[in-house]
Order: sequence, then structure tokens, then C-alpha cells
Amino acid sequence: MLKELFKYLKKPAIYAQSTSEFWDDEHISKGMLEAHLHPNWEAASRCHDFIDESVAWIAKITPSETNKHLLDLGCGPGLYAERLYKRGYQITGIDFSKRSIEYAKGKANERNYDINYIYKNYLEINYKNEFELVVMIYCDYGALSDNNREALLKKIYDSLKPGGKFIFDVFSLKEFEGKNENNTWYMSEESCFWKPEKHICLESHFIYEGDVRLNQHIIIDKDGKIEIIRNWFKSYTKNTIITEVKRAGFNKIEVYSDVTGKPYTEESKTICIVVEK
Ligand SMILES: C[S@@+](CC[C@H](N)C(=O)[O-])C[C@H]1O[C@@H](n2cnc3c(N)ncnc32)[C@H](O)[C@@H]1O
Repeated sequence: MLKELFKYLKKPAIYAQSTSEFWDDEHISKGMLEAHLHPNWEAASRCHDFIDESVAWIAKITPSETNKHLLDLGCGPGLYAERLYKRGYQITGIDFSKRSIEYAKGKANERNYDINYIYKNYLEINYKNEFELVVMIYCDYGALSDNNREALLKKIYDSLKPGGKFIFDVFSLKEFEGKNENNTWYMSEESCFWKPEKHICLESHFIYEGDVRLNQHIIIDKDGKIEIIRNWFKSYTKNTIITEVKRAGFNKIEVYSDVTGKPYTEESKTICIVVEK
């Protein structure tokens, strides 16, 4: 076990994978759903007031009358999807958290909302010219490796009708300013975010070239079983994100500070990008 631990405590290669599920883990997804649904927690989703503002802005710049078919990638429990549905969009929501999709489907049934929720990895979508609007909200794009971002951008481009728009956000360099590499740990006697029972958690923050960061959690359960969960974050400047979307073929590009349409400033911790096919 110690040999395994020594191996995992070394800084891993960029975009090394987790050994366990994160979003779709039976236990972690419970805490995650609670975080999504809490109106004031800025965790799995943004605070619900922000989401209301965001949906109002999206509906203003891309009204449902002319942008009917909307694909929500990483829709979670449907916080944006439901609000957008009420504004007249026809929504397909994709997420690979079973718990979130089940919750979203349940709420849609209860409220009689005709929303198409799909439990699926969005890296495997294959739509062709079907949507006027694709959204991917809360900086999920920057969690992907270089190859996956490139492949997904192409798939999103293909899924859009000509003139269709893709709205998404990424972290700016400001989000991580002043945060250095570090290691910390704790022991929990009871259920908490990572495990339903006693465990040890060794946390590391690593920095890589290309404005890439890693939050790594090594979880050791009471029987000594080790699991590694890696969350990657690529942050951007206005120029680096514009270069990346241009490479994928998008040309008309607008940049804001966040997904409520605040004007772009270099002080913002996020960048929202609206691109057109
Ligand atoms: C940060 S949360 C944001 C959820 C939602 N967009 C919101 O803001 O409320 C990211 C979501 O993306 C989902 N997700 C992450 N990677 C995914 C993938 N490869 N395929 C499908 N869903 C994914 C997660 O399950 C999670 O629900």
C-alpha cells in the first residue's frame, strides 16, 4: 500500500486520469446534488439568483423564437434547462451524473415540462446541424484535456445549424492568482463529501505549463483501499480562448466577464464566450 501511495504522491503527468468516478460516483453525487440545489452555494452550480440572471441574458441575446433548439451540455439537475424551457426553448440536456439526470427527469415529469434529458458522456455526442444554441455552463470546458476540448469543440460546431451559437464560460487566470502548489490532508471518522465512512484524504494542488492546474484527492478507506480523483482546470486569457475557438472554425466571437453578460474586464475570474457557426 505504501508503495502505491508513494507513486500517487508524486506530481502526475498532465491530464493523468482519475482511478475512480467523480460526478457519477454513488456517494459523491449525493453531496453534489445537494450542492447544485442549494440556492446560495457557489459549488456544483452557481447561486440560483445568478442562474436566473444568466437565463434572462441568454434569452435576451438568443431569443427562443429564433433559437428554438437548445443543447445543454453538462446540464446537471436541470437548473438552467428548466428555466430556459419556461422561456420557450426546446431543450436537450446531457449529463453523465445518473443522480442529476434522474432528479432532472423527475422534476420535469412532476411539472409536466417536455425536456429531453439524456444520461450520456457529452464527449460522445454526434449531432449534425440540429441546434440553434448550445450552452455549457460553469467552466466545465476547461476541465477537459487538450485533445478532448478540441474534439468536443468540433462536435459542438457540427451540432449547430449555420448561424447557431455556442455560449460557454471558462476560468480566467485571476481565478488561481496567488494559489501555489500545496499538500494538505485530513482524517474523517464519519461520512463526508468523499466517502460514506471513515477515511483519510490527501489533497494536492499542482501547477502545469499552459495555465493548467490540478486538484488531486487521494482517498484511503478504512481497509486501505486507495482511490485517486483528479480535477483539472485550464484557465484562459481573452486571447488564448479566442485562439482556441477560432481554431475550431468559429468566427464571430463575443467575450464577456460572465454568463450574465457583464462587460469583459481583465479583473473577472471568469470569461464567457459567445461564438457563432
Ligand atoms: C460544474 S457542473 C455544472 C452543471 C450545470 N451546467 C450548472 O451550471 O448548473 C458540471 C456538470 O457537468 C457534468 N459533466 C462533467 N463531465 C461530463 C461529461 N464528460 N459528459 C456529461 N456530463 C459531464 C457533471 O456531471 C456536472 O453535472
